[in-house]
Amino acid sequence: MKRDTTVLLDEKRIFKPDVETVERAHVKNWENEIEKGKNFEAYWEEKAEELEWFEKWDKVLDETNKPFYQWYVNGKINLTYNAVDRWIYTEKRNQVAILYINERGDEEKLTYYELYRQVNKMANGLKNLGVNKGDTVSMYLPMCPELLISMLACAKIGAVHSVVYSGLSVGAFVERMNDANAKILITADGTYRRGKIINLKKISDEALLQCPTIETVIVLKHTGSEINVSDLSGREIFYDRFLEGEPAECEPEWMDAEDPLFILYTSGSTGKPKGVLHTTGGYMVGVATTLKNIFDIQKDDLWWCTGDIGWITGHSYVIYGPLLLGTTTIVYEGAPDYPDPGAWWKIIEKHGVTKFYTAPTAIRHLMRFGNKYPNIYNLSSLRILGTVGEPINPEAWMWFYKNVGKEKTPIMDTWWQTETGMHLISPLPSAHLKPGSATKPFPGVDADVVDEDGNPVPLGKGGYLVIKKPWPAMFRTLYEDEERFQQVYWNQIPGVYKAGDMARKDEDGYFWIQGRSDDVLKIAGHRVGTAEVESAFVSHPAVAEAAVIGKSDPIKGQVIKAFLILKEGYQLKTKLIEELNKHVRYELGPVAVIGEMEQVEKLPKTRSGKIMRRLLRAKESGEDLGDTSTLEE
Ligand code: WT7
Repeated sequence: MKRDTTVLLDEKRIFKPDVETVERAHVKNWENEIEKGKNFEAYWEEKAEELEWFEKWDKVLDETNKPFYQWYVNGKINLTYNAVDRWIYTEKRNQVAILYINERGDEEKLTYYELYRQVNKMANGLKNLGVNKGDTVSMYLPMCPELLISMLACAKIGAVHSVVYSGLSVGAFVERMNDANAKILITADGTYRRGKIINLKKISDEALLQCPTIETVIVLKHTGSEINVSDLSGREIFYDRFLEGEPAECEPEWMDAEDPLFILYTSGSTGKPKGVLHTTGGYMVGVATTLKNIFDIQKDDLWWCTGDIGWITGHSYVIYGPLLLGTTTIVYEGAPDYPDPGAWWKIIEKHGVTKFYTAPTAIRHLMRFGNKYPNIYNLSSLRILGTVGEPINPEAWMWFYKNVGKEKTPIMDTWWQTETGMHLISPLPSAHLKPGSATKPFPGVDADVVDEDGNPVPLGKGGYLVIKKPWPAMFRTLYEDEERFQQVYWNQIPGVYKAGDMARKDEDGYFWIQGRSDDVLKIAGHRVGTAEVESAFVSHPAVAEAAVIGKSDPIKGQVIKAFLILKEGYQLKTKLIEELNKHVRYELGPVAVIGEMEQVEKLPKTRSGKIMRRLLRAKESGEDLGDTSTLEE
């Protein structure tokens, strides 16, 4: 965002943790831990030993076939066994694993033992359907316990899950389902959002008309809308019926550390979303280690990550990280400001949340209502706060620090990506913090800022953010697209992973992330590909050509600015604007927030016909157009 870059450049404040935070922490000295992590294979070996393996690995890391790295070679493990089963033989058996809360105030608690039984029933049901190790199961579900149960059931039997975010709509859904070749979909009647019910079944019915591989649809009655058995087609079955009579015991599948765990789609520079593939062993080690140390998870914690399970944040830090550590995780279905802007603070007080992890966009949104709401509630249970998804501007950081953390709780600004699976750049509670900086690479992670040829840039100067050594939770490929995997991430700058972000390092070695270096927007922390939005526009009969760029927005960070060439006879007037808004929303979902549309006669293109979004961005912000030698005319 524009206003931030200038503020960030002279952000000099430093915040030190209080004694109590440091004394309690698993890691009491940040710098020492970073030193320790430099012996990086030994570091990641020690961390892997905190999980229960059926068979130990022969080798921590195999680098023979770069960039197809392998971690914990020949190790055998099961995620669900580690996240659920092993706790039922301990004092955690009757501890709450999942605390589900929704915006209507409904609550549901599942203990580890109850979760264990539900997961096993689901696992057996899926097996009876013929789901085998390696098969893909798709989910389009609200934030509710059944989504976690379904994912854990897949992991238990070795099926690969592919979750489609419930805020994506028909077009985006079809694209993702077909790429993953799923045979089974688990969905629900609806989800609660700001006092309304979004009819997920209707969206999925429409999408499935274009998804030929789906053979079975399991339908959860969640909002209790009026769907009857007689409304279901031959391939549909209610979730409850599906589990009826299934035994509550199921042996975990022995998974190889490198067996696929899930596919999760994310946007890239082209119209086709990327199926990011994560495998089992390294992912488990990465998420458990980062959550444990960055948020200092202890026995008496109540953990709340507000991210949606439909994104990587939810996969890694609503479900897998917390359950692997045997803590209680809150699953919240609803908006931050409904029924009023105190909704989240009320939950923190009522349940005594100790660790709270959210997004800068949510903070900026809640900030608008002033400090009245956080002051109504007692937030003294909080010990550590965190943010993720985009750079946090120092004003939002300070507001969060003062009004929510009461100047006592450190803020963990965590930089990572769908591809990285785990936090890569983040402070630990014992770190000195600078508002707006994600500070330094996590111990055992090697990141840098370089130029196009891979040479480190001088301190203070901007460059490409790269990761120089493999890390356990790294994605292993793009689903059925090894070429794109190599081309987009590994072949651009020799020998390193190119993250797609610009960054700079300051004189203390702190990283300041500046935003994406590719044609990907960050709208309310969600990744939206410009090409995807353009193709949604062009699929409307009035639009001949479209070019999309990001426009800064004080709350969402960025929104869409679209330049449109309309077909003959069309004018961009109120009615068409409304229609286009609706159309793009139908194709992509509410994540694609359009800030502005502008009708144009021409778009700047290279001689080979590629749209030069860079020029549109420069023009929009009134900056110098730079090098225009490749421009068509
Ligand atoms: C992109 C990844 C990883 C969970 C949610 C987003 C941006 C993420 C930060 C941060 C500055 C951040 C980057 C990154 N980003 N966290 N703390 N500071 N930027 O996952 O959708 O894969 O997006 O989000 O641009 O590349 P994602």
